[in-house]
Amino acid sequence: MIPQSNLEKEHASIPERLDRRIATHELLDSRWSPRSFSERPIEPRKIIGLFEAARWSPSSANEQPWSFIAATKEDTDTYAALLGTLTERNRSWAASAPMLILAVTKLTYSKNGQANRHAWYDLGQSVALLTVQASALGLSVHQMGGFDGQSARALFSIPQGYEPVVVLAVGYAGSVEQLPSDLRHREMAPRSRKPLEEIVFTQQWGKASPYVETKNPLLNNPPSKN
Ligand SMILES: Cc1cc2nc3c(=O)[nH]c(=O)nc-3n(C[C@H](O)[C@H](O)[C@H](O)COP(=O)(O)O)c2cc1C
Repeated sequence: MIPQSNLEKEHASIPERLDRRIATHELLDSRWSPRSFSERPIEPRKIIGLFEAARWSPSSANEQPWSFIAATKEDTDTYAALLGTLTERNRSWAASAPMLILAVTKLTYSKNGQANRHAWYDLGQSVALLTVQASALGLSVHQMGGFDGQSARALFSIPQGYEPVVVLAVGYAGSVEQLPSDLRHREMAPRSRKPLEEIVFTQQWGKASPYVETKNPLLNNPPSKN
């Protein structure tokens, strides 16, 4: 199990990671995408902190193509509209999240109207920073591509040239017991990733970098913080 950190963690049970050879920072170790959220509302200062993290993300030409449509459960209409855009499957668990956020990216550069081929990348990176900030605040984020972008565009009058990309469910992670059994099983399932050898190359495509090859003696030791 990953040791409990001194972060303000509410997470009752972080699903175990498989085959992690080197420990990463506890902010990353403690991140996962829960399907169960506690009813505890998110403190207003923390909400601002999430968006500051996203706002200060780097972006191509400092274009900052990201925008967010955010609602807590107190914003009844906007929350219901965001929830309504989700696939039925996502809606079944995301309805427990105290906050939903639609992340939108602008597809052209403001300075010259040219296509911004980094628009999605930049939005993703700002959401990544928001997610790490969420970890630091004891919160969890579950991103969802399973939503109806066209209906989101209509509901929120999103102009042409802006693309709704992902909906985020945000809140304090809840207990797995509150999930229906099929989702509980998915939530408890072991998490895994492609091995490093399959994603870090040298010399040519597909040739594993020696830095990450299993025979690298550094990688045969138990995970350490260094
Ligand atoms: C762009 C994107 C779209 C995703 N869409 C969904 C989704 O529609 N429904 C869902 O349950 N999870 C969705 N996820 C969550 C992934 O399934 C999850 O991040 C992945 O399985 C790894 O699990 P972890 O985040 O707990 O490490 C999405 C994640 C991303 C980044």
